[in-house]
Amino acid sequence: MIGRLNHVAIAVPDLPAAMELYRTTLGAQVSEPEDQPEHGVITVFIDLPNTRVELLHPLGDKSPIANFLEKNPAGGIHHICYEVTDIIAARDKLMANGMRVLGTGEPKLGAHHHPVLFLHPKDFNGTLVELEEVAA
Ligand code: CO
Repeated sequence: MIGRLNHVAIAVPDLPAAMELYRTTLGAQVSEPEDQPEHGVITVFIDLPNTRVELLHPLGDKSPIANFLEKNPAGGIHHICYEVTDIIAARDKLMANGMRVLGTGEPKLGAHHHPVLFLHPKDFNGTLVELEEVAA
């Protein structure tokens, strides 16, 4: 059911410093920051030959990553994102297997304007999992 690893997301306390680290020290292709008000984060994408890294920084006072950064002041891996070709079918199959979908259970548009869902970390070995629908 799951396809490629779309990205690994890292929550960062200092976005310009993290962008500089990837751009200059690691020599990667780094996007401009983009506000995602729907998700309470600012995102930056780093393109690698085989996948992407998503840098996450809180946006607004109710950011879902504010708590995470409080517990991990230096930043840390926040979630991983797998691609699926039919997010509703994937959700229904997961829920039929007892997996918990976060929020309302309805997909939201993610950073790439594709539908996304998040799955409960307790059901996935302590890892927050994002599913993103991509074209088949
Ligand atoms: Co993500």
